[in-house]
Amino acid sequence: MTTPAKTEAPRVDQFLMAAEERFDRWRALLQAARTWERIVNQQDPTKGEHQASVSKLFQELLQWEDFFAYPGQPLLKLLGARVTSGDAIGAARLVQSISNALLTHSYRSSVADWEGEEQSSINLGEGVPGAEERAAQRPYFEVLVVSPARPAAWQELAQDLRRLRRPLDKFMYEPVFVNSFEDAVLATILNGSVEAVIIYEGIPLASSHHSPVLRQFLTSHLAASGMDSNLADYSLALAQGLKQLRPELDIYYLSDRQVEKLAGDVSADCIRRVFYQVEEPLEMHLSILDGVADRFDTPYFDNLQKYAQRPIGTFHALPIARGKSIFKSNWISDMGKFYGINLFLAESSATTGGLDSLLEPTGNIKVAQEKAARAFGADHVFFVTNGTSTSNKIVEQALLAPGDIMLVDRNCHKSHHYGAVLSGAYPLYVEAYPLTQYSMYGAVPLRTIKKALLDLKAEGRLDRARLLVLTNCTFDGHIYNTERVMEECLAIKPDLIFLWDEAWFGFARWTPFYRRRTAMGAAASLEKKFKDPAYRAAYKEQEKKLGADLKASEKTLLETRLIPDPEKVRLRVYQTNSTHKSMSCLRQGSMVLVKDQDYHTVEEQFHEAIFTHASTSPNLQIIATLDVARRQMELEGYELVNRAIQLALDFRREVKSHPLISKYFRVLGADELIPAEFRNSGFVDYLAPGVNWATAVKALRDDEVALDVTRLTLVCGSAGFDGTQFKSLLAADFDIQLNKTSRNSVLLQTNINNTRSDIAQLIKVLVQISQGIEKKIGEGGGAAKQAFEARVKSLMTDVPDLPNFSSFFEQYREDPSSKTSEGDMRSAFFAAYRQQQCEHVKLSSPEIDKRLKSGPELISANFVIPYPPGFPIMVPGQVINAETIGFMRKLDVKEIHGYNASLGLKLLNPAALQSAKTQSGSGARAGKNAKHKSAAG
Ligand SMILES: Cc1ncc(COP(=O)(O)O)c(C=O)c1O
Repeated sequence: MTTPAKTEAPRVDQFLMAAEERFDRWRALLQAARTWERIVNQQDPTKGEHQASVSKLFQELLQWEDFFAYPGQPLLKLLGARVTSGDAIGAARLVQSISNALLTHSYRSSVADWEGEEQSSINLGEGVPGAEERAAQRPYFEVLVVSPARPAAWQELAQDLRRLRRPLDKFMYEPVFVNSFEDAVLATILNGSVEAVIIYEGIPLASSHHSPVLRQFLTSHLAASGMDSNLADYSLALAQGLKQLRPELDIYYLSDRQVEKLAGDVSADCIRRVFYQVEEPLEMHLSILDGVADRFDTPYFDNLQKYAQRPIGTFHALPIARGKSIFKSNWISDMGKFYGINLFLAESSATTGGLDSLLEPTGNIKVAQEKAARAFGADHVFFVTNGTSTSNKIVEQALLAPGDIMLVDRNCHKSHHYGAVLSGAYPLYVEAYPLTQYSMYGAVPLRTIKKALLDLKAEGRLDRARLLVLTNCTFDGHIYNTERVMEECLAIKPDLIFLWDEAWFGFARWTPFYRRRTAMGAAASLEKKFKDPAYRAAYKEQEKKLGADLKASEKTLLETRLIPDPEKVRLRVYQTNSTHKSMSCLRQGSMVLVKDQDYHTVEEQFHEAIFTHASTSPNLQIIATLDVARRQMELEGYELVNRAIQLALDFRREVKSHPLISKYFRVLGADELIPAEFRNSGFVDYLAPGVNWATAVKALRDDEVALDVTRLTLVCGSAGFDGTQFKSLLAADFDIQLNKTSRNSVLLQTNINNTRSDIAQLIKVLVQISQGIEKKIGEGGGAAKQAFEARVKSLMTDVPDLPNFSSFFEQYREDPSSKTSEGDMRSAFFAAYRQQQCEHVKLSSPEIDKRLKSGPELISANFVIPYPPGFPIMVPGQVINAETIGFMRKLDVKEIHGYNASLGLKLLNPAALQSAKTQSGSGARAGKNAKHKSAAG
């Protein structure tokens, strides 16, 4: 099968989402076929040209169709014959019915769709009465069969599989046949409906598809997943590789040799079951269904549904359970109507009756959490029903004891700062690079983190550095090179623990492009690396150069890509994610993922932390949707996440190329959000000229920081709107809600819930707004133009510098002369509970300027967090400097948590602190060289 040769590699935005691309191709074919049909009976001299054009589109489309079960070879053959024989009417009719079936997914349950118009070769239930209705209710999926058999045998093999169907089957599947390693990879990438793969031994490597487009696509995906196609045994290599691309797939292996040996081989861990050729076809059929059932099974949700069906008398403290006080009410029955009966039937405060206890799960919550651990690649998962705000505090309380040092991005979510207060750990703030023009921060440079660790080492306090907390990805889409960060930090401190706050990034597990940059993806890769003899050898080489305890100069260590000693390293990785932010889960549903080889040493305190923070009345519906969100991602996450990424790329491309929209708006690319020094590969942006999959994949693999394309920073300052104004305009006039704002931008985001229509709507709105601006400027004459330009200039250039963290007041530092700035924030926080130690000074008062000049120092009594940008510009015990005051005075936002303009800044009074310290004889932790030993396990 060939297509006209294309020399250009496919652009990033072209081939991510094969499903959409495929629909478009069918739609284009339909249009061409209809035009041909219209003129076929007329004396039109272009008839032949129309037929040729339909034939060309059909041939182009065919290269994709081999990877999907529907429409399948019989219908495609029939269509091909109609096109070749000049049957325009028949061809148009068939294309119409296929493309409709594809668009509506009706082929998943309708026998008629598979029949074309004449034939019925597919058996959906062996003629059992009611088979069609049953089929209609059964979820449908596809099974990829990778067999060296000749294509001529495929139809028969497919019929053999179909004959195994039974009315009792919970699911329906159709096989898709390919006969090489490369085609199997392509099918797995392109076809999101594939849930299981059967691999026969002895498959060849090379694809039978000679399309350069598919070749390019394949090469870059192989690179993205780190798959190795150079192995001797392609069948086993394929099994291992497909697991890297899509870990959720069930893989079955058919061999005619020593299957017992293979089954016991550790390299075959990725295989769910090994069969001796097709000795037991029914067993295989049942295994396939069982594998999917295992993912489909949602133990907590399933049980909750059963519970809701039972007649239960409740004498506990939850009147809404069963809903009687609601449905019978004279006044609130509308609440019942609105939410429906199930919400109330599924409510209980009991942990008996199979409902299990979130705080001490032993039943179906435990199983649901274990399934989530499997799905997300963790050792343990804990469900949390109070959001990631709580998950973060749980992890920090569990891992940190008073006086431990927690290296943390100052621009992180406030829950981490509160985590430091609660645990008594000393935050050592590491600064992210500022993006001043857009009033936001990026990621923390690895060099900054390494420097902080090396400084602690130089000052003899490295033993107290226990946890590194980073946000991955950040609100605005900066993704860390998690693997590299952990490797280099572990080289300096082999037992450092990592908490990756992936509040926004839970979905990333489900695409091979981002998975390696997630906490769990990187942890899995490191786990493998640390066992690799080649890694040990590389470490020995490094040891020769830098010494076992990294004695080289700081400059050398900062400039060297360090690797840890695999003999010493402890891999301890935690991830928190707001499941509700990126998956189908009710608000506040969150998970903590654990991959910690020393978890047993902190397990008790981990449970203690859960008891501290978790409500004793967790919401059952949140737990159930955490369970269901896992099911969905394991079964269709790959397809949904790909679509979200594709939609974001579509939006970026449309804004960039639209002549009117691009006059006023733009979406920031990687080049504008990530300074060049952190894009080591030289990557510019996903849509930059010349960028193709290969370059994008390389950037995602190598760069220090990458951009999550689904985070769309739309600059609106250039259209004369500040972020808040634009957000209100979209909400009030166009019913469009968005995420956060900055002085001159808004953050839009695509997720698994978005559709192409949503993007079309957004584009339409931007056109309308742009037309409005044009009209206003056009009708207002020179004055309006000048006013517009002045407003744009003010929004885009008159932006306040973002203040760095200054320092903690010396009383809150053990060694005020130390190079590192960690401090006892908890003591400062509680010092503010004594009114006599606090004072208020108005922001604009001359006293502030006087004290900035000649003291006494201004010490913040609490957190001050303006929205936007949403990070604390002051923390308790922080010395406030001129930079921070300058920023505060320039701020024009209404919402500033921790600041009451009528009272002024709340400060700790240094004299009062000093006298309290003298009186108590101790005060806050103080004293140079105070020795501390970490109390944590
Ligand atoms: C980085 C980060 N972490 C944690 C949270 C808190 O998550 P939740 O809203 O689930 O409590 C947020 C919320 O916006 C966040 O941005």
